[in-house]
Amino acid sequence: MIMRMKIVAGNWKMNTTVPEGVELAKNVLAKVSEKPSDVKLILGVPFTHLAGVAEAISGSGIGLAAQNCADKESGAYTGEVSAAMLKSVGCGYVILGHSERRQYYGETDERLVAKIALAMKEGLAPIFCVGETLEQREAGNHFSVVESQIRNVLFTLTPEQAASVIVAYEPVWAIGTGKTATAGQAQEMHAHIRKVLAGRFGDVAETMPVLYGGSCKPSNAKELFACADIDGGLIGGASLNADDFLAIAKSF
Ligand code: 13P
Repeated sequence: MIMRMKIVAGNWKMNTTVPEGVELAKNVLAKVSEKPSDVKLILGVPFTHLAGVAEAISGSGIGLAAQNCADKESGAYTGEVSAAMLKSVGCGYVILGHSERRQYYGETDERLVAKIALAMKEGLAPIFCVGETLEQREAGNHFSVVESQIRNVLFTLTPEQAASVIVAYEPVWAIGTGKTATAGQAQEMHAHIRKVLAGRFGDVAETMPVLYGGSCKPSNAKELFACADIDGGLIGGASLNADDFLAIAKSF
């Protein structure tokens, strides 16, 4: 049996000032020994927080992620942050294709193809987000929507590149709503995702972590993480509290 990495990643979104964020990272660090040693923690923090959080968690084994990167390598792109910049500040990961970016900032599959290629070039592991809206689920299109999000972007990678990708299934209707997918709904989609990945990447798909995101919290993490194809979580609101974040990491 292949053992996939277990991951609990926090997505702080646009929350906390820099001092508050560094404090939160230190609080997570102070409790890190409470989690099982085979669970990897990752903190996905705002760009402004990366340097401070990198310093706070240095040498701890906690991973550092940005929440986006530019679709261009460098140059006259005011306001953008490149994959190389992220690498140079100590990031190992970058969240790409989050539904909030797709929904509010016009993130397209085409741009994501460019972003993921640049992340790969810098050796950053993408945390690639997919997920359907409530309307798409109610129309019965959730499997095909998620499949096309994967095909349009991840299928541009080689199996060697795909081996470093973490996929996050985040049903849009469950994000920040307090409404979690049931373990059955999540497992069914995660198994579908793995089947789609296997169709392109073969055995590599068995090693790719697929995380669940959407109102995941200490009270429901255990049931979700017990599912065969759920390898951990991408945590929004509950990652802003060190105790809740660690409690989720202890739910495997
Ligand atoms: P919540 O956990 O706040 O629902 O957010 C999930 C999410 O979008 C993580 O990326």
